Amino acid sequence: MSIDGPAAGDALSWRALGPPDLDAVYALHRQAIGEAIRPEVVKPETRDFFAGILGGRGRMVGVFADGDGADRAGAEPELVAYGVLQRVLPAYDDPRPHIGAPADAPVAKLAGASVAPAHRGQKLQRALIAARVRLAQPGDILFATSAPGNPASWINLLSEGFAIRALVPYYGGHLRYLMVRDGTDITPRDTRLMSPADAEGQVALLKAGWRGVAARQGAEGAAIVYVSGG
Ligand SMILES: CC(C)(COP(=O)(O)OP(=O)(O)OC[C@H]1O[C@@H](n2cnc3c(N)ncnc32)[C@H](O)[C@@H]1OP(=O)(O)O)[C@@H](O)C(=O)NCCC(=O)NCCS
Repeated sequence: MSIDGPAAGDALSWRALGPPDLDAVYALHRQAIGEAIRPEVVKPETRDFFAGILGGRGRMVGVFADGDGADRAGAEPELVAYGVLQRVLPAYDDPRPHIGAPADAPVAKLAGASVAPAHRGQKLQRALIAARVRLAQPGDILFATSAPGNPASWINLLSEGFAIRALVPYYGGHLRYLMVRDGTDITPRDTRLMSPADAEGQVALLKAGWRGVAARQGAEGAAIVYVSGG
C-alpha cells in the first residue's frame, strides 16, 4: 500500500507499518512522551496496544528518515513519526453517545501520534492526521481525544478539520477534548474565544451545542474559537 505524505523536503519516506515495526514504534512512543509528559497530557500506551493495532485492530502510518544524511550515511531508515488509526474500540471509547450519532454508525479513532523530538516543528503530525483521514472509509465518523494541556495536539487536529464536540473525563479521569470529523458543519451564529484552561466555561458551551473549530495564538498562549450551533 502506498501512503502519501507531504512533499518530501527532508529525505523522509512514508509507508504503512506492520508487525515487524513493533519495537521501533514502541521505542518512539516512549521517547516522544519522555519523562516530562504526564498521563494528564498524553496517555502512555502499552506495547500490547501497538501489537494489537499492528496485528489487525487498526492501521499505522510511519515516517522514516532515510540514511542519506552525512551523520547517517548507509544507515537503515529510522522511524521518526507514526500515527495510529484504530478500528476495534473498547466501549469506554465510544464517541457516538457524546455527539448524538446512531449506535451503529461506523467509527474509527485517530488513536495517537508521536514525532521524535529532533523532527518536531515540520507539521508532521498534521500530515499524519491527513494521511489517516485518507485511510478511513468514506462515511466513517473519525474522532480523537486530546488534552487541553497539549496545545500542539489539538491545534493540529483543528487545522485538519476536527471540531471539539465535548470535554469529558477519559483514561482514569483526565479531561480530554473529544474531537470529531464527521462531515457535519454548522453555520456560525455567534463566536466566542475561550481559554483551554476554562473547563467549566467550555463544557457549558459544548452542552449548549457550540463547537470549537479553530485555534488563535494570543499573548497568553493558544485559545480556541467556539461557534454556536445554527
Ligand atoms: C504532539 C506532537 C505529535 C506534535 O508534533 P509536530 O507535528 O512536530 O507539531 P509542531 O511542533 O509542528 O506543533 C504543531 C503546532 O502547534 C503549535 N504548538 C506547539 N506547542 C505549542 C504550545 N505549547 N503552545 C501553543 N502552540 C504550540 C506549533 O506552533 C504548531 O503550530 P503552527 O503549525 O501553526 O506553527 C509532538 O509534540 C509529540 O510527539 N508529542 C508527544 C506525543 C503527543 O503528545 N502526541 C499527541 C497526542 S496522542
